Amino acid sequence: MALRNIVTDGDPVLLKHCKPVEKFDSRLAELLDDMAETMYNADGLGLAAPQVGIIRRAVVIDVSQDKSGLIELVNPEITERSEQTQYGTEGCLSYPELYGYVTRPMTVKFRAYDRHGNLYEKEVSGLFARAVCHELDHLDGRVLPDNIEAPYDPKKDE
Ligand code: NI
Repeated sequence: MALRNIVTDGDPVLLKHCKPVEKFDSRLAELLDDMAETMYNADGLGLAAPQVGIIRRAVVIDVSQDKSGLIELVNPEITERSEQTQYGTEGCLSYPELYGYVTRPMTVKFRAYDRHGNLYEKEVSGLFARAVCHELDHLDGRVLPDNIEAPYDPKKDE
């Protein structure tokens, strides 16, 4: 495993529409391993492949406190969004100075492939649902500045 550089705002790779992963091979496994290591090293809850300069539909997420909840989402798709929403703050490793309020569904159902090419389905709520929505937005070039509805200053607010 190796740390990869996280690209930050201003890098056009963040605005690309990512291509599906086609080969579930050792390169994909290496990418996912590196993304997880890079996410943990930066104290993030999630990381999408374009954030390390790879224009492919791959995401890692871990919203647990103790790094025990890693999941890998390859070619993910949200299949259901709850009508009930949540309004809360988001940040992004690619926009380290930026925080803001974003409305998201309270619960989402998604399907994705794991690194071996097995399709799975999962329903998640709360912070997990927020992370899924945030990371999947990255795969379509939609980033935090596009989503913020109201600013949040962690030093001043609350
Ligand atoms: Ni992000």
